Amino acid sequence: MIQKIKKILSKKNKTKIICLTAYSKNFATEVDKFADITLVGDSLGSVLYNYETTRKVTLNNMIEHSKSVRMGIKKSLMVVDMPYKTYQNKKDALKNSIKVIKETKCDAIKLEGGNKIKDIIKHLVKNKIPVMGHLGLLPQSVRGKFKSKGKIKTEKKQLLKDSKLLEQLGVFAIVLECVETSTAKLITKSIKIPTIGIGSSVFCDGQVLVTDDLLGLNETNIRFVKKFANLKKNINQGLKRFKKEIISKKYPSKKFSY
Ligand code: KIV
Repeated sequence: MIQKIKKILSKKNKTKIICLTAYSKNFATEVDKFADITLVGDSLGSVLYNYETTRKVTLNNMIEHSKSVRMGIKKSLMVVDMPYKTYQNKKDALKNSIKVIKETKCDAIKLEGGNKIKDIIKHLVKNKIPVMGHLGLLPQSVRGKFKSKGKIKTEKKQLLKDSKLLEQLGVFAIVLECVETSTAKLITKSIKIPTIGIGSSVFCDGQVLVTDDLLGLNETNIRFVKKFANLKKNINQGLKRFKKEIISKKYPSKKFSY
């Protein structure tokens, strides 16, 4: 197991794990200073390309953005989302995961699903591909409205079962998306690998958010997103000053000219 993954595992029950998304070098450089895990999420489909779902994201989209992210990372574990329909069977999953790891030099890949993809996860782990799991709300499978998971008894039971299964199959951590508080707490207590929550309460071992959302760059009204900065405002101020100085001929002064 790679050293960076061992470090993530050692944080369970000690310190919270920080996971942040990045889709390009400049963002990755800043994210890497604070994150244990930098995730090139297929959320880039909605954040950057305005796609209604993540299903339109291609393997090539993920590879090109990940190559850029790789240039910004010095210390965090780099995880890349495998997009929709790239891990439908064992053969494709292995071929595409190897391609992603070879071309982007990422440390691990992430797949959405539990019992339904157990044979695929087993095959990847057997072939030494580090895998991060993703349970609860699965954006690649959602049709229609996004709803929280684990409120009703049967869902709670299934989520716990899936989490234990993923642990047993050898994934090193599980993202829990929009999982009801008591279910997320129960799962976190019941498995030895870390849970990384997104809209899944404070009881998870770590937290992940889309960086563009938490910095106020991407307009969203998702309940679990807290705005920790207002980058949009900062960018507007900078661009306004740029325009003003050009119109007033203050820029470029002699100092900025040849
Ligand atoms: O695609 C993504 O960015 C994700 C995280 C938000 C968990 O899967």
